[in-house]
Amino acid sequence: MKARPSYSQPKGVMLDLDRHVRTQWFLEDRFGMFIHWGAFSVHARGEWARSWEQLSMQDYQPYVDGFTPDSFDAEAWADIAVAAGMKYAVLTAKHHDGFCLFDTAETSYSTMNNGFGRDVVAEFVEAFRRRGLKVGLYFSLIDWSHPDYPAFDDAHHPHRADPAFEGRSHDFDRYLDFMHAQIRELATNYGQLDLMWFDFSYDDLSGEVWRAAELVEMVRGLQPGILIDNRLEANGGSFGSIVTDEPSAWAGDFVSPEQLIPTDGIRDVRGRLVPWESCITLNNHWSHFGGDDAYKSSRTLIRKLVEIVSKGGNLLLNVGPLPDGRIDPREAQILAEVGSWLTEHGESIYRTGIAGLPKPEWGYYTRRDDTLYAHVLEQPIGPLALTGVDPDRIAALELDGREIQRAESWLIEAYPDVAFVSFGDGDPSFTYPLPDDTDTVVTVRLTAEGAGTR
Ligand code: GLC
Repeated sequence: MKARPSYSQPKGVMLDLDRHVRTQWFLEDRFGMFIHWGAFSVHARGEWARSWEQLSMQDYQPYVDGFTPDSFDAEAWADIAVAAGMKYAVLTAKHHDGFCLFDTAETSYSTMNNGFGRDVVAEFVEAFRRRGLKVGLYFSLIDWSHPDYPAFDDAHHPHRADPAFEGRSHDFDRYLDFMHAQIRELATNYGQLDLMWFDFSYDDLSGEVWRAAELVEMVRGLQPGILIDNRLEANGGSFGSIVTDEPSAWAGDFVSPEQLIPTDGIRDVRGRLVPWESCITLNNHWSHFGGDDAYKSSRTLIRKLVEIVSKGGNLLLNVGPLPDGRIDPREAQILAEVGSWLTEHGESIYRTGIAGLPKPEWGYYTRRDDTLYAHVLEQPIGPLALTGVDPDRIAALELDGREIQRAESWLIEAYPDVAFVSFGDGDPSFTYPLPDDTDTVVTVRLTAEGAGTR
């Protein structure tokens, strides 16, 4: 018996059952931590610095040698994720620079051999799993450290314009053997993984060029329930074949929009919902970047989480730990504030999704079965109109755990078919000021018939 989604989705919408079963937890957990950390954190100019600054391996080596984070404590990271209300986490096991945060037999270019001597991936999965969080690993399909990865004339390689690399031979199949072997190590040596987050396809480097069918078969064979993103054939700005009638074997289980919230839920060509996850930075960089103090407020992040979930998506919110291994206290503080809000209102986020109602002017609806959550982000004037909700189906209304009533007043006599609520004791116009300026959540319990929509 296939598990039924715990939130109501628009009637008549079917999902790919295999993917539907695999993504059940993902669609319920809704909120995760992305962690971008590595030698580039020492350089503090972003994880693409080798490419942007066209640094040779030799130029980059000081940052590798300097990556000995004596304050690294995965337990502390996990505590911050739990306090934030995050339910899963994804760590960069290897980014495009090729420096590995795990014990790999395929190369010495790892934290096991640079003087740090610790398997970061092992400590990460252990600490987060122990707290009941799902664990995922980001793995770069691109590896600028490997001699068989295409360099000259590549779109991004640090030596893309280096004459010394023109005509240099490379054996891409040998690179793929190396890449697949490392992915096999990750899928074998670290217990149950819940997510494999590949990044990314570009130009002709996509799909079967990565030997993606063989790769996916291996990963799913070793980790039967694992979720895989769509970037074996896509990137942060494209969907890939997951939205077509015939998804490829490597289409993945979810779309991974980056630094963007899709305009609406993501559906395939037949209108079926497709899981998706927006990955978003706390400031303007993925990894630690000196001088980037432009942090989003917890208020903004809470409201974006609501928007994302109302469209059927997940938020993977990124931290870029400091070179010494600590999560920046500013990032920890923002996440703690988000977590405080979720402690109060997590019921309106976790295990909820698309409500199947037109978006109201004042904010968003999320829904779980026959319970709607009205997320009031904009200050209404007078009674709040629960537009789209059939008044005859409202069984109860709640605000902060107490029952509130439908507004009954001459103010709204022109709208007999619309349910209005006020937040005060009897005063129909009492909705000012909003009880929670970040997001006032009104719980709307619908009668069993459930449709509750107009
Ligand atoms: C962008 C960045 C990459 C980061 C990824 C996360 O592609 O370039 O460094 O890991 O976003 O989605």
